[in-house]
Amino acid sequence: MIPSCKAMPAYIFFILLSSIFLDTEASNRNCTSIKCTHDGAPDIRSPFHVRGQHSRHRGHHGYELHCNNNTTLIHFPSYGDLVVKSISYDVRKLDLIDPKNCIHQVFLNLNLSLTPFRYYHSLKEYSYLNCSFRLSPSFTRVPCLSSSGYHVYTVEPSLSVPDSCKVVRTITVPFRYSPYLSDSSFGLGLTWDFLGQQDCEANQVQSISQIETCQQTPAKVGGYKIIPSTTMKHQVIEWEQGWSYMQAGITKLKRIIQGLPEPQFSSEDYMMLYATVYNMCTQNPPYDYSQQLYDKYRETFQNYITSTVLPSLKGKRGEFMLQEFVKSWTNHKVMVRWLSRFFHYLDRYFIADRSLANLDEVGLNSFRDFVYRETKVDARVAVIGLINKEREGRKLTETY
Ligand SMILES: *[C@@H]1O[C@H](CO)[C@@H](O)[C@H](O)[C@H]1NC(C)=O
Ligand SMILES: *[C@@H]1O[C@H](CO)[C@@H](O)[C@H](O)[C@H]1NC(C)=O
Ligand SMILES: *[C@@H]1O[C@H](CO)[C@@H](O)[C@H](O)[C@H]1NC(C)=O
Ligand SMILES: *[C@@H]1O[C@H](CO)[C@@H](O)[C@H](O)[C@H]1NC(C)=O
Ligand SMILES: *[C@@H]1O[C@H](CO)[C@@H](O)[C@H](O)[C@H]1NC(C)=O
Repeated sequence: MIPSCKAMPAYIFFILLSSIFLDTEASNRNCTSIKCTHDGAPDIRSPFHVRGQHSRHRGHHGYELHCNNNTTLIHFPSYGDLVVKSISYDVRKLDLIDPKNCIHQVFLNLNLSLTPFRYYHSLKEYSYLNCSFRLSPSFTRVPCLSSSGYHVYTVEPSLSVPDSCKVVRTITVPFRYSPYLSDSSFGLGLTWDFLGQQDCEANQVQSISQIETCQQTPAKVGGYKIIPSTTMKHQVIEWEQGWSYMQAGITKLKRIIQGLPEPQFSSEDYMMLYATVYNMCTQNPPYDYSQQLYDKYRETFQNYITSTVLPSLKGKRGEFMLQEFVKSWTNHKVMVRWLSRFFHYLDRYFIADRSLANLDEVGLNSFRDFVYRETKVDARVAVIGLINKEREGRKLTETY
């Protein structure tokens, strides 16, 4: 028997049930919570309940969890068991981990249509290809679905399918798992519908109404394919998710600028990056990341200069140094042009409202402050050297 909340406030009670330990914690908020194990495990309370427990939440179909080997699990008929890492009742987010460590296998098989859940994050459509030959490294291979004999890739659905490949499925997946990022450590976020009075947190969490109103429709710009599904209420992009997406785009841009093998940005890539910034700036607090994005924008230039530009200038002298300087400046302008487009939404409101330096200025000033000031002595020496050479009648290279 679970003690009633009123009888046992803030009291830990253990029961042994079918060889499973369950902690029953009666909270002073009239919500009984249970854990599969003592520490760290998620609190299980309404609408969730544990299989075999006679609880007052029995009626909530689909919210059944079970405990096995001190792990909290949820079963999906279309896939199997997933590990429940955490449950956030305030934002109604269920964080899951695939015990088989193959998140794409989950995406391919999980059918949420018969469950009370939806993906927490914004979705994007991808095709999974099964190929008999390896494609070029610019395609995103899914190692956990591939073997020596065949190779599975995620691609844009618009891509024409190479001869050696078959389309496995085209599905919508949370866009954190888009081409740049195939790492499954991020887990899988699901959300559920608000259950009104039955929801234990209903009366306590005032932020719910804020969160509801903060669900902005994603930018509807040409070619942009995030599914603004009407059923997707919880499209909050958290910092970690949004910024890692931006970083992946920035890394791609740096590689392009450095002339490394990298496919060019498609208009879709560009729109996705723009839309990520747009979404991160238009969410309600505490999910409005405008200031953080602005700071990161500036840092991106500083980091690039410190890690790449200055080292490439350091070892060079005279004319070679000047050539490198001119090349760095040209590249820098390309970087400012692209990055300021990705972050453009900041210019429109955040920067304008606060009269901050706009994105172009931040970008260009960083070259002045970090490259020019660092190298101007060397550059002057180099220029004087060139002038002297010219006076001596030698021909300058055409670069200048
Ligand atoms: C607390 O739970 C009891 C049943 O255990 C219920 O009758 C009562 O209405 C609840 N109070 C609130 C404020 O939800
Ligand atoms: C139980 O969990 C531990 C670690 O959490 C793991 O090493 C072990 O294999 C699990 N046992 C079973 C039967 O799943
Ligand atoms: C679960 O954890 C408890 C201690 O936290 C331990 O005594 C028990 O043996 C564990 N059970 C399993 C199945 O690992
Ligand atoms: C999911 O299940 C529903 C109901 O069984 C079915 O109609 C639908 O086609 C399934 N969706 C996928 C992608 O398999
Ligand atoms: C890919 O194809 C191979 C056979 O060619 C098959 O064994 C494998 O299951 C397929 N993988 C997927 C994810 O469809």
